[in-house]
Amino acid sequence: MRVEPMHRIVGHMAVPGDKSISHRAVLLGALCDGETRVTGFGRSADTEATIEAVRALGITVYEYDDETLHVFGKGLRGLGAPAKPIDCRNAGTLVRLLAGMLAGQEGQRFTLTGDASLSARPMGRVTEPLRLMGAAVESEDGHLPLVIEGRPLHAVTYELPVASAQVKSAILLAGLSADGETTVVEPVPTRDHTELMLAAAGATIVRRQTSVSVRPAARLALGEIEIPGDFSSAAPFIVAATLVPGSELHIHGVNLNPRRTGLLGILARMGANVTVYNRRQIAGEPAGDLEVRSADLVATAVTGAEVPSAIDELPLFVLAASCAHGDSVLRGAGELRAKESDRIEATADALRALGQHVRAVDDGFRIRGVPARPHGGRIASRGDHRIAMLGAIAALASRRGVEIEDAECVAVSFPGFFELLDSLRREAAE
Ligand code: S3P
Repeated sequence: MRVEPMHRIVGHMAVPGDKSISHRAVLLGALCDGETRVTGFGRSADTEATIEAVRALGITVYEYDDETLHVFGKGLRGLGAPAKPIDCRNAGTLVRLLAGMLAGQEGQRFTLTGDASLSARPMGRVTEPLRLMGAAVESEDGHLPLVIEGRPLHAVTYELPVASAQVKSAILLAGLSADGETTVVEPVPTRDHTELMLAAAGATIVRRQTSVSVRPAARLALGEIEIPGDFSSAAPFIVAATLVPGSELHIHGVNLNPRRTGLLGILARMGANVTVYNRRQIAGEPAGDLEVRSADLVATAVTGAEVPSAIDELPLFVLAASCAHGDSVLRGAGELRAKESDRIEATADALRALGQHVRAVDDGFRIRGVPARPHGGRIASRGDHRIAMLGAIAALASRRGVEIEDAECVAVSFPGFFELLDSLRREAAE
C-alpha cells in the first residue's frame, strides 16, 4: 500500500469505539446476568475474536449492526467449555483477560490459542499470579497454548512485576470468584477500564493510590454501555495534523481517560497545539472533542512513569520527536518489545528507512530531531497494526510518500483507517 504526502489536514472526523473497552464490554457482558446492550462497539479483527470467544463459551451475541451488540450473559459461573480450543488470534487483551475469567469456572477445561504473533508473546505474567490463586493453568514454557482447568480460587495480594493493565485485569476477573478480597498493587498506574466497568456492573471495587481490590461478587449487571472513541485510534491523526503544516483537524467523541492520554501531555510539552472541548462523560469515562492545529515541536525526555499511559502511542511519539527541534530520549519502555511486534526495533527500523535519525536502545530510543519533512521510502509493518499506521502518518508528513508492506494489518484495531485517510484527503482538496 502506498500513502502519498498531504499538504494540510483539515475537517471533522470521529474514530471507532475504544478497543480496550469494547473487549471488556463483551467479556463482562458474558459474566453478567441477562442482557447487556453495547453501542459504539469498536469493531475490528481483535474485538471480533472476542465475540467469537464468548460465543464458543455458550454466550449468545446479537449483532444488530457493526456498532450495536446485545450480549446475553449467563452469570459469573455460567460459561461452558467448548470442545475445540478458543482461538484468540492476535488479541493480547482477549487471551489475558479470558485466562482470568476462566480460571475459576470449576470443573471445566479450556484451551486458549492464538496466531504466530500472540504465540510469541509472554503469558507467564498471567499464569504466575493465577497459579498463586490456586488456578490450574498450563502453558508451553510461558507461551500459548494455555490449558486452564477451572478450580476454586483463593484471594491474593499481588504486586505486578510489570505495569500491565491486561495482567491486572486478569487477576481482578479471577478475583470475582475467589474466597476473599483480591488486591493488585501497581508499580505505575495503568488503564483502569476493567475496574471502572466492574464497579458499574455492581462489583465491589476498592481503589487506593497504588492498588485496586475486588471482592467476590454474587451477580453482575451492566445494562447499557456506550463506548467512546478510541484515543489510540485518534492518536495517529493527532500526530499527523501536528506535523503537516496548515492543518486544523477536529476529532469528536474521544475517550480521554487520563490513564490513556499520556501522549497529550508529552505533545503539550513539545509545543503541540491540541485543545480539548465539549468535555463530557461517556460510559463513566472522561471524553471530549479535540482540535489539533499544526505546530513546531521541540525535543523532550520521556521516562518510565509516563510509559503506561502512552504505551500504544509511543511509536508515534518517536516519529514526532524525529521531526522536532533538538534531541529526544525515551527510556523505561522495554514493554514495547513484548507487543504485537518488537516495537522498539520495528519503530526504529521503519523510521530510519524513511530518513529519520532514530536509535533503538534496550528500553527505548534516542532520537535526533530534524525539523523538516521526513524523506519517505518503504517500511515493513511486521504485521503490526500500530507500525502500519505509524508508516501511514509518516507518509502524510513526508516529502515523497511511503510504501507500507502488509498494510492490511491495520484491521486488527482500525479496519476503516485507510478509508478515513482518503476522506481527509478529499476534504483537503475541496
Ligand atoms: C491493553 C493494555 C496494554 C495495551 C494493549 C491493550 C488493555 O497492554 O498495550 O494494547 O486493553 O488492557 P499491557 O497491559 O500488556 O501493557
